[in-house]
Amino acid sequence: MQAVVLVGGFGTRLRPLTSHVPKPMLPVGHEPMISRLIGRLERGGVTEVVLALGFRPEPFVEAFPDGRCGGVELRYAVEPEPLDTGGAIRFAADAAGISETFVVANGDVMTDLDVSSLVDAHRAGGALATLHLIGVADPSAFGVVELGDDGSIRRFVEKPAPGTEPSDLVNAGTYVFEPEVLDLVPVGVRTSVEREVFPALVERGALRGHPTQDYWIDAGVPELFRRANLDLLGGLRRAESCVAVAPGARVDPGATVSGSLVGEGAVVEAGTTIVDSVILPGAVVGARAQVESSVVMGRVGADATVIDCVIGADGVVDDGGHVAYESVPATE
Ligand code: GTP
Repeated sequence: MQAVVLVGGFGTRLRPLTSHVPKPMLPVGHEPMISRLIGRLERGGVTEVVLALGFRPEPFVEAFPDGRCGGVELRYAVEPEPLDTGGAIRFAADAAGISETFVVANGDVMTDLDVSSLVDAHRAGGALATLHLIGVADPSAFGVVELGDDGSIRRFVEKPAPGTEPSDLVNAGTYVFEPEVLDLVPVGVRTSVEREVFPALVERGALRGHPTQDYWIDAGVPELFRRANLDLLGGLRRAESCVAVAPGARVDPGATVSGSLVGEGAVVEAGTTIVDSVILPGAVVGARAQVESSVVMGRVGADATVIDCVIGADGVVDDGGHVAYESVPATE
């Protein structure tokens, strides 16, 4: 089975982490998010992935030089200009000549969903499209559905005003489409799958939902990106886990690392305390620094304190500095 994976967004909400690295290439549990996602698609029966690329395609091509990720064959569809989610799906599907039932996935969703169960539900339901749905506490930040008892989606509202949501079930970012869905998307025109295509399918009575209670995180904001990493340590995930300290990290034996990840090539010096944090490849945390509930890609000086912060690749916290609840460098 073929899948289109959307990876061409700007990742603005994850700045400054995405200032130099596209969001799906950021590591979750020491592996690029996109590799974990493709691995899961492969376990669910996907054999070919078309990466729907726009903004900054090069890192993806460089990461998979032989055009494969595990046992999955990769194709690259690079949009001449951003076509938004619906336009990107159409562009990528046309580029790969997709003509049968296919899977679509957002590049920043970390979940334990068994994709083959979504495909089975889609085939059994007979709709043009079937969405993976998940129940969340605050649905207003997502696409929210009204689901009929028969599994049909009666309403799809993207980011409704808080208090007006039809339910707590939201679009979890993995879909199964019949090729006919592509006919609803004009060629080469910016089109949102969430705001235009799903409502059009609802009008035709051709959209169904498949709610599950799987582990699920949309890792597109810093707090959830940190969570997505830390959750791989705790035995919370069905089929995935990781070690706390990557083999190529340099952690001084006099440092304390608790409930945290330290990535390949990161340096953590003596006397440092790292708690509930993600220290990404290339980061340096100086001697006796304290880092708590943060994501660090840049440099934290000696004796500095960093709490609830996101330090991008260009971010520097000076020796002895104190930062809390900040992005460094600041994002607009
Ligand atoms: P933000 O800028 O923080 O909203 O992130 P984003 O740009 O990734 O947007 P969002 O998370 O809403 O997008 C959902 C998925 O669609 C992500 O996997 C994006 O990479 C992808 N995406 C969004 N817009 C485009 C586009 O114009 N082209 C392509 N190819 N992918 C897109």
